[in-house]
Amino acid sequence: MALQVRSLNPALGAAVTGVDFREPLTPAIQAELNAAWMAHLVLVFPDQPVTDAQHVTLTRVFGEPEIFHQDIIKSRSLPEIFRLSNVDDDGNLMPPAHPTMQQINLARRWHTDSSYRENPAMGSMLHGVEVSRTGGLTCFINLYDVYDALPPHLREAVHGRKARHDFEQLSRLAATRKLTDAERKAMPPVWQPLVRRHPVTGRTSLYISPIYNDAVTGMDDGDAVALIEELAEFADQERFIYRHEWETDDILIWDNRCTMHLVTPHDPMERRVMHRTTIVGDGPVLPG
Ligand code: SIN
Repeated sequence: MALQVRSLNPALGAAVTGVDFREPLTPAIQAELNAAWMAHLVLVFPDQPVTDAQHVTLTRVFGEPEIFHQDIIKSRSLPEIFRLSNVDDDGNLMPPAHPTMQQINLARRWHTDSSYRENPAMGSMLHGVEVSRTGGLTCFINLYDVYDALPPHLREAVHGRKARHDFEQLSRLAATRKLTDAERKAMPPVWQPLVRRHPVTGRTSLYISPIYNDAVTGMDDGDAVALIEELAEFADQERFIYRHEWETDDILIWDNRCTMHLVTPHDPMERRVMHRTTIVGDGPVLPG
């Protein structure tokens, strides 16, 4: 089977066909997939009706699957699966006021996955199990292009600085349940450079994750939050964005080292069941 890679957008994103993820992948196909991933940042694989176990096996082609440190959201049967869903493990629809939904719905703001870890996730792989027809688009920003286009005052503001990434910021942003002591201890805040170098491509990108960022070195907290907001607003321009409209059994893989993403709202009465694996980071963030 020959792989076909078709660009979906000038900024980022490509559709890949000619592969079946229910079958083992040869080393040659794996190498082609990796090259396409580095070139396009987000890959879309239509019509891949995999089981959760096959999803986890596929993730291992790219790296080790991360195990989420909280028990909510994580699948009961397969801990590598992170359930981005308004339907719980028992099949019950969760209303927007449910504490789990309040946390999940923060994904409607720009972020990169697991940036609050010392070694942030290199990538994520999302399977559309039950997709929305009323919204629920996953949108991605190319942070290489954002960095290249930064106006001089923003380039100067990020140069040599670090941002703090704190998982607990989620519970400050929304009226979510408070973290338990064990959750807080498991994930202390980390400082990451605002400009990073990609370990594979060597390219430089902006590195922010606005739902976790609450401080910047050399700035008071008010100025830090204002800077992160200004950077996020600058990044949120059509020329940097690919919006993915889901079909059932699409699988997407994205690179958290040079993109950020969000999901658009959908009718909360409509089931949306998305299963994600998160790929453990390949080392500390390299300053750009
Ligand atoms: C995420 O990984 O932030 C979720 C994206 C989505 O639910 O489409």
